[in-house]
Amino acid sequence: MRVTVTAHRDYTISDIDDRLYSAFLEHLGRAIYTGIYEPGHPTADKNGMRGDVAKLVRDLKIPYVRYPGGNFVSAYNWEDGIGPREKRPTRLDLAWHTSDSNAVGVHEFIDWCEAVGTAPMLAINLGSRGLDQARNFVEYVNGPTGSYWGDLRKSNGHADPFNVKLWCLGNEMDGPWQVGHKTADEYGRLANETAKALRAFDKSLELVVCGSSHSNMPTYPEWERVVLEHTYESIDHVSLHMYFANRENNTANYLALNHKLDTYIGTVASTIDFVKAKKRSKKNVTISFDEWNVWYHSNAADRAVLDGNSGWPHAPRLLEDAYNFEDVLQVGCILNTFIRRSDVVRIACIAQLVNVIAPIMTEPGGPAWKQTIYYPYYFASIFGRGTALNLSVDSPGYDADIADNVAYVDVAGVHDKQGNTVTLFAVNRHATDDAELALNLQGFGTARVIDHQVMTHKDLRAVNGLRTQNDVVPKAGSGLKVDGSTLTGKLPPYSYQMIRLQVG
Ligand code: AHR
Repeated sequence: MRVTVTAHRDYTISDIDDRLYSAFLEHLGRAIYTGIYEPGHPTADKNGMRGDVAKLVRDLKIPYVRYPGGNFVSAYNWEDGIGPREKRPTRLDLAWHTSDSNAVGVHEFIDWCEAVGTAPMLAINLGSRGLDQARNFVEYVNGPTGSYWGDLRKSNGHADPFNVKLWCLGNEMDGPWQVGHKTADEYGRLANETAKALRAFDKSLELVVCGSSHSNMPTYPEWERVVLEHTYESIDHVSLHMYFANRENNTANYLALNHKLDTYIGTVASTIDFVKAKKRSKKNVTISFDEWNVWYHSNAADRAVLDGNSGWPHAPRLLEDAYNFEDVLQVGCILNTFIRRSDVVRIACIAQLVNVIAPIMTEPGGPAWKQTIYYPYYFASIFGRGTALNLSVDSPGYDADIADNVAYVDVAGVHDKQGNTVTLFAVNRHATDDAELALNLQGFGTARVIDHQVMTHKDLRAVNGLRTQNDVVPKAGSGLKVDGSTLTGKLPPYSYQMIRLQVG
C-alpha cells in the first residue's frame, strides 16, 4: 500500500500548547498510595515519595498533573488532607467504595509536583460542596499570609502562596454516577457564581468548566451549550473526557475510534463558537481534554470492590489495566488527534499516571516499570512540541463501524522552529500490509533523519508485566531514505513510528 504525505512549512494548524501532554492523578486505588507515595519503599525520599516512580514521571516532562479527582473529588474535603498527618481523618470514599487515610493532601502533592518537574492543576469539589469551600480552598492554596487561610497554610509549613493557576470547577457533573450530579442549568449557575468569586480573588486564574463525560451521554452536546451560556465570560476551558475500549475484540474498529474523538472535539468546538456568537463575545474558550486513555481491561476484576463486596479497603488494586501492544497503536492515534486539533484542544491529560489506567505501574515494595503505552506518550511529550503541521495525507482506507474510509495510516507532524526539526508520528493500522511511505517536505530546506523509533510486535496482546517489563519496547528503525526533499521508507503492518528530521 502506498501512502503519500505532504508537509509544507507554512501550512500549519496551530502552535501546540505544551499542556497537551499533561496527566491526571486521583485518590483512587493505588495511584497515590503505593503509587507515588510509599513510605518504607527502598527508593522513598524523606516525604515518603517513591524515587523510582518520580524518575519515570520526570522523564516524561509532564507540564501539569490534575489532582485529586475525578469522581473522588465530588465528595472530598480538602481540609482533611492538611495539618499534622496523625490528626488527619480516615474517610470513606463514596466514588470508589474505598477508604482514604489522607496521608497525602494538597501540600504533599504540590511538593511532589515540584520534585518531578510538573505543575498542579487542582480540582474543586462542586458535587457535595459549593462556592464557599471553593473560595476557601483557593485562598488556602494561593492567599497571602496575614489572612486566615494564608496563615493556616503557613502554620502547616508553607508560608509562600503555592500560586496554582489552573483550577477545575468540579468533575463530570453531567454524570448521574457523580456525587452531587446536577442538571446543566444547576451546574452552569453554580460554576459561574464560583468562577466569579474565584476571579474576585484573582483575575488571572485559569478556570475549567465541566463539559460532557463522554460523547454518548444523553445530554451531550446540549450540556455544553447550556453550561457555556451560563459561564462563557467567566471561564477559560471546557473539560471533555473519553475512554477507549476493545470489548468486541475487533482491532479494526478499535483503532478507528479516534474518528469519534475527532468528531467529539469538532462538535464541542462548534458549540463553543455558537455560544460565542450568541453572546457577541470576542473571548475564545478552548478545550481541556483532561481525561483520556484506554480503559476496559480491568473492568471485570474491579466489580467486587466497586459493588461494595470488599468493605472499604484502603488503596486496593483498582482500574489496573495491563496495556498491550494494540493499545500502543490506539494511544498513538489519540495523541495524533490531539496534535491535529491543537488549535482548540489546549490541555489534555492522560488518565491516569500511576497504577490506575496508567503508563507507569508499581509493585508495593518492588519495582516500578513502563507499561506499553508509556512510549507513545513519552515520544509525543518530548518531541511533539512546536507547531502542528497541516499535513496532506493520501492513504488507502477501510470501512469501520464508526466511519467509512478510515485511513490505514494515521499521521501527525510537528515542526519545532527553534530546534529545526520536523517530527512525524505515524500508526499503520493495516493488519498485514507495509505502508510504502513517501513524505514530501516543502519549504524546509535540507532534511536528514536524526531519530527513528518503531514499535511492532508479533502479538497484539503482549504486555509489559511485573515479570515481562520490557516485552513491548521501541526499537531503532531502519531503511528510511531522504532524497532531496522526499523521505521514503516502509512502515510495517500494525506499527507505531516516531521519525525525527533535522531540517533547514
Ligand atoms: O479516571 C477514572 C474516572 O473516570 C474518573 O474518576 C472520572 O472522572 C471518570 O469517569
